[in-house]
Amino acid sequence: MVLTARNLEKAKLAAAELGSQVMAAELEVSDLLSAKALAHDLEKKFKKVDVLINNAGIIGNKPATAFDLLEIKQVFETNFFGIITTTKALMPLLQKSPEGRIINLSSGMGAWADLTGGYAGYRLSKTALNAFTVLLANELATTGIKVNAMCPGWVKTEMGGASAPRSVSQGADTAVWLATEKQIPTGKFFRDRKPINW
Ligand SMILES: NC(=O)c1ccc[n+]([C@@H]2O[C@H](COP(=O)([O-])OP(=O)(O)OC[C@H]3O[C@@H](n4cnc5c(N)ncnc54)[C@H](OP(=O)(O)O)[C@@H]3O)[C@@H](O)[C@H]2O)c1
Repeated sequence: MVLTARNLEKAKLAAAELGSQVMAAELEVSDLLSAKALAHDLEKKFKKVDVLINNAGIIGNKPATAFDLLEIKQVFETNFFGIITTTKALMPLLQKSPEGRIINLSSGMGAWADLTGGYAGYRLSKTALNAFTVLLANELATTGIKVNAMCPGWVKTEMGGASAPRSVSQGADTAVWLATEKQIPTGKFFRDRKPINW
């Protein structure tokens, strides 16, 4: 298992907490060279990638009516283009797995019915990520690769803040399930292991 972060030292600290089978690596998701360097190292060490969890994300809280193009573009750079960039770099290795899986960390805030206002950059980036998930799942439907999106719920992290009701392990549960369950569908959006509306 490989845990990545932009800062290798931070990745090493987090990996050490999880045990000796977790390896740390550096990755800036929006930088194709960084993602290709990671792919190169993974190919040397493991030959293939079975599961890619696209977890990196940043928030942008201005409303759509603020028309803050800079914020919207910055959020898209990580939450949308970053995921496409990382997936592009790792796709050849996922194709070497008998049953590759891609799990995109999205948010209910990007679901059509929940586009209620505020957090425009964040919501739009997750709506776009959801669309990318469906498109990729459909294009890969005849291969062994399954592509799904999930919402972890409101989780106590740096992004979620201290008042969030869910622990990190509760938030991660659906990702672990999608990564390890024997039979999973493709092209779906999950929360708490159950499909939810896009
Ligand atoms: N927390 C919630 O309540 C909640 C709810 C719904 C969805 N989500 C989604 O769940 C995912 C994880 O969120 P979180 O709550 O753990 O957020 P977080 O506490 O803010 O952590 C986000 C992580 O993403 C990394 N990151 C940001 N930009 C990056 C980039 N360009 N390249 C590589 N890494 C980058 C950050 O690294 P640095 O340490 O280097 O900044 C950080 O480790 C996100 O996609 C988020 O949108 C979270």
